[in-house]
Amino acid sequence: MSVKDFPHISVLGEGHHPCVFDVLLPEKGNKVLDATLGLGGHAESFLRTIGPSGHLYAIDADQDNLDTAKARLSIYGGNVTYFHTNFRNTFHLELPPLDIIFADLGLSSPHLDDASRGFTFHEDAPLDMRFDKLKGQSAAEMLSSSSEEDIAFMLVRYGEVRGYRRLASALYQELRRGGGLATTGALRRIVERVYGYKANIVLPQVFQAFRIAVNDELGALQQFITDAPALLKEGGRMGVISFHSLEDRMVKREFKRLSAPKMDERTGAISEKASFSILTKKPVAPSLSEIAQNPRARSAKFRAIVREHSA
Ligand SMILES: C[S@@+](CC[C@H](N)C(=O)[O-])C[C@H]1O[C@@H](n2cnc3c(N)ncnc32)[C@H](O)[C@@H]1O
Repeated sequence: MSVKDFPHISVLGEGHHPCVFDVLLPEKGNKVLDATLGLGGHAESFLRTIGPSGHLYAIDADQDNLDTAKARLSIYGGNVTYFHTNFRNTFHLELPPLDIIFADLGLSSPHLDDASRGFTFHEDAPLDMRFDKLKGQSAAEMLSSSSEEDIAFMLVRYGEVRGYRRLASALYQELRRGGGLATTGALRRIVERVYGYKANIVLPQVFQAFRIAVNDELGALQQFITDAPALLKEGGRMGVISFHSLEDRMVKREFKRLSAPKMDERTGAISEKASFSILTKKPVAPSLSEIAQNPRARSAKFRAIVREHSA
């Protein structure tokens, strides 16, 4: 496989303005962690810049994506170390002090293109939705052991679905009747029954809600943004692209916490300077021309911090 076999799909990637590299500033010889390798688009840009004296550490929970990226990046040989794991485990990997940590959250295009993964409502397939097909429960299994309250919570919290109580009740009744929600088609039909002509607006929200729940995406992200900054060298930079407000809020809050100086409770004076500074006062968003080329980019927000000194 050659580089040209891969469409240019990396959000805020090389060739776009703005782009993540203008903020993360990779240099020759850098040690970089890409926590969401995907098809290796951003990773390849990093590798070209850091050169043979640099090293890329690459994580993905999805073995298929890891294999595709490995084939794409094979020309960089020993300059890449791959980890098939969830990025929530970053702290437990053997990693050196890093110059750059990067994550581009969520789904990759093969997840949607391969209907058998259960992420899309456009075709009928088992309701799976796991990034890692080998671990944990599928969405169908998760739903079959969920209460009506659990389902309602997932719909409203992770999908911000309007009328979530009615849908939760319909889904729960279906499960109790023994009909089950084994397939994307079965889930789609119930959403259509409940929402009628508005189903097309609600379906992406419902699928997002169950996908976030089944992969515990917010739990994994919280663990990652709590643990990973400590792996940065002085001057090292960390950036995260998120795709919905729940993720963006978490990243914003954690980066703000890391960049806040410690105050003396008694005097109110600064007792310890913050170890990190924020590099993106406002989140970086894709240009209109990028969104026109790649509609998936439209909700992307990129935030970054730099390590000023060690704690
Ligand atoms: C948006 S894609 C990354 C695309 C990549 N930056 C590129 O340019 O090709 C996100 C990738 O992160 C992976 N992923 C999502 N959540 C993950 C997690 N918690 N741990 C590890 N990988 C994860 C998905 O399997 C997917 O391959």
